[in-house]
Amino acid sequence: MKSVVLVGGMGTRMRPLTYHTPKQMLPLVGSPIIEYVLGNLGRQGVTDAVLSLGYMPDRFIEAYPDNVIGGVKVSYAVEPEAQGTAGAIRFAAEHAGIDDTFLVVNGDVLTDLDVTRLLEFHRSRHATASISLHAVEDPSLFGVVPTTPDGRVIAFVEKPPRDEAPTNLINAGAYLFEPSVLERIDAGRPVSVERETFPALAADGSLFALADEGYWLDTGTPATYLRANVDVLEGRNGHHGPALVGLVDATWCHPSARVSPDAHLRRAVVDRDCVVGAGVELDHVVLMPGCVIDDRAVLSHCIVGPRAVIGAAATLEATCVIGAGEFVEPGESLAGDVRRGEG
Ligand code: GTP
Repeated sequence: MKSVVLVGGMGTRMRPLTYHTPKQMLPLVGSPIIEYVLGNLGRQGVTDAVLSLGYMPDRFIEAYPDNVIGGVKVSYAVEPEAQGTAGAIRFAAEHAGIDDTFLVVNGDVLTDLDVTRLLEFHRSRHATASISLHAVEDPSLFGVVPTTPDGRVIAFVEKPPRDEAPTNLINAGAYLFEPSVLERIDAGRPVSVERETFPALAADGSLFALADEGYWLDTGTPATYLRANVDVLEGRNGHHGPALVGLVDATWCHPSARVSPDAHLRRAVVDRDCVVGAGVELDHVVLMPGCVIDDRAVLSHCIVGPRAVIGAAATLEATCVIGAGEFVEPGESLAGDVRRGEG
């Protein structure tokens, strides 16, 4: 099966980290997120994927010059201008010459979605498009998808107030499309699949949806990005490879990192060329390549961008995001939704 993977968004919620790196190229325990996403698609029987690129396309193309990511053959469709999610799907599918049922996935979602089961469902309902659903506690941040008992989509409700959500099943960002869907997407203007295409398909009764019980996480915010890293460290998402066997305190350190024996690390990622000083405490922390954490700094639930320096005895709490090359003064105390760095 062929797949369109949407990776063209600007990742504004992950700024400042996404000023220099597209969201799906941010590292997840040492490897770009996109490698986990494509790796799973490969395990699910996807042979060819077209990456739908818009924002910083060269970062993908240069990183994978042999056109293979996570074991899947890829091609690159670079949008001349932002066309919205539906416009992007149409552009990429036409670019790749897709003419059969195909899978569309959001490239920032980690999931072990059962594609075979979704395909069987899609075929049995003679659907034009089928959406994979995931149950969440608070659906108010997502597209909520109520269905009839046999899975026909009744409505597509984007981000409803929590107490008005008709169900807790949300759009999981993975779809099966018949090629005929593409004809329904206007060319030449931005079209949103969530706001236009799905409501139109639901209105004529040809849109279906099926809940998947597997692992699912949208990595698009600092809190969920941290969660994704910890899930990989703890083997919760089934995506961790042999290199992660036998971690101590759910911590992964790149072999080139220099970590003081006197530092205390739990649920931490210490990437390439990082330096972690004496007495440092890290808990739920991602250090991107080349960070320096000076002695006695205490960090919890934070992301530190590439080459950033955290001064001695600084304290960073949830959920600080420190951009590439930034400097936090010795003894400085940061907490809350702190974003350091302008790009
Ligand atoms: P925020 O700016 O933080 O909302 O993130 P985003 O727009 O990058 O991602 P969002 O989660 O809203 O979108 C879901 C998926 O679609 C992500 O994998 C995005 O990269 C991708 N995406 C969003 N808009 C576009 C677009 O216009 N073109 C393409 N090719 N992909 C897009």
